[in-house]
Amino acid sequence: MLNAKVSKLLNEQITKELYSAYIYLDFSVFYEAQGLDGYANWYMVQAQEERDHAMLFLKYLQQNGEEVNLGMIDKPDKPLLSLMDPLKAGLDHEQYVTGLINDIYAAAYDVKDFRTMQFLDWFVKEQLEEEKNAEDMIKKMELFGNDSKGLYSLDAEYAARMYAAPSLVL
Ligand code: FEO
Repeated sequence: MLNAKVSKLLNEQITKELYSAYIYLDFSVFYEAQGLDGYANWYMVQAQEERDHAMLFLKYLQQNGEEVNLGMIDKPDKPLLSLMDPLKAGLDHEQYVTGLINDIYAAAYDVKDFRTMQFLDWFVKEQLEEEKNAEDMIKKMELFGNDSKGLYSLDAEYAARMYAAPSLVL
C-alpha cells in the first residue's frame, strides 16, 4: 500500500499525462493544417508517448493495489498562431511536467517510498530528454525556419520520427 499523498499525486499524473497527449495532438492538428506533415507526425508520435506515460502511472498504481481515479482532461488551451507557438508551449509544458514529477519524487522521498522513487527514476531521465527535444526544436526553428528551404528540410527531418514503445515495462 502506498502513502495516501503519493498515491493521490500518482493518480493525478495519469490525467496530466493524458492532457499532455491532448495538447500534442492539438499541435499535430495545427501543423497538419499548415501543410507541415513532418511536424504533425512528430507531435502525433509525441501524443502516443504521452499516452504511454499515463498507462505506466496507471499500471504502477494497479500493481501496488491502489485505487485508480481518472480525472477530467482539460481542453487544449495553448494559443497557436505562429509556427513557433507550439514549440515554445511544448517547452513550457515539459518544464511544468518535470516539476510535477519532482513533486511526486519529493513526496515519495519524504515517506521513504524507495519503490516509487525507483519507478520515477525513468521519468526523471525521460524529462531531461523531453526538455532537450523541445529546446532543440525551438533552436532549429530560429536558425532555419525563416527560410522556405530550411523549413522544408526541418519538416522532412520530423517526418522520419517513428513511434517506439517506452523502455520502461511494468
Ligand atoms: Fe510525459 Fe512529456 O512528459
